[in-house]
Amino acid sequence: MSGAAATARVIDGAGIAADVAERVADGVAALAARSGRPPGLATVLVGEDPASQIYVRRKREACEKAGIRSIHHALDVATRPDELLDLVAELNADDGVDGILVQLPLPPDHDPDLVTAAISPSKDVDGLTPTNAGLLAQGRAGVDDDDAPGLVPCTPAGVMEILRHEGIAVEGADAVVLGRSRLVGRPLAGLLIAANATVTVCHTRTRDLAGVCSRADLLVAAAGVPRLVTPEMVKPGATVIDVGTNRTDEGLVGDVDFESVREVAGAITPVPGGVGPMTIAMLLANTLRAARARAA
Ligand code: GUN
Repeated sequence: MSGAAATARVIDGAGIAADVAERVADGVAALAARSGRPPGLATVLVGEDPASQIYVRRKREACEKAGIRSIHHALDVATRPDELLDLVAELNADDGVDGILVQLPLPPDHDPDLVTAAISPSKDVDGLTPTNAGLLAQGRAGVDDDDAPGLVPCTPAGVMEILRHEGIAVEGADAVVLGRSRLVGRPLAGLLIAANATVTVCHTRTRDLAGVCSRADLLVAAAGVPRLVTPEMVKPGATVIDVGTNRTDEGLVGDVDFESVREVAGAITPVPGGVGPMTIAMLLANTLRAARARAA
């Protein structure tokens, strides 16, 4: 699909996420029949940030729907750091808990690095512990490979699943990741390298950002800046994946100016309904993966 007049194929992330959730539900039922208990995911939310409350509720509902037991800890905003670390230790030791997710951001008196690092890597369904991030950085973690060690962050894993599902060639492709966060940009670069893409990581301080982005066959926008990506930054026919979830006065807005970029791109994910639903689906997949590894 090239040519200036073409309009991009819009990728149905919600549909792909539903497929993943269905596959996970089958795996959960099989594992529960074998082990005598369903996989369990513990979620921890400190304080009452409204956006975090919505995210955690969605995660819990998706778990229940897939047959995963959801164990939720809603902690007061005044919870002390040592109390939170004690809870993480308790969950690490609880045999009925296969995955632990501490919702970020935490209130300012908590050190998120310390809390994340306290989670047992085998239960780290966010893939954020230094152990799991290190396995990915070393090219030893995988998304598709059940035998690969480690757990991979959900949003980057969701991006890779979209590409796989849509049959978008990654091997040998020029992939540009716009953003370098611990949750998305960095781990996604690792996954794309593992999938044999030629990967460039750029960010808001990159010189000639438009020039770098416009070389991409595959452009992933994860900078957290509303509508940062405009048509002159996109190679005609490129695949554009929008990870942005910016809450603005106009509602939820991606990092890509969807209406103008869709006139240039070959395929594009919308916001909402693109990468967002995949993050939750891959959380379910990671929980099943953690539970299988622990049952083995
Ligand atoms: N806050 C926003 N996204 C995430 C996520 O993927 N995991 C956690 N733990 N917190 C988040």
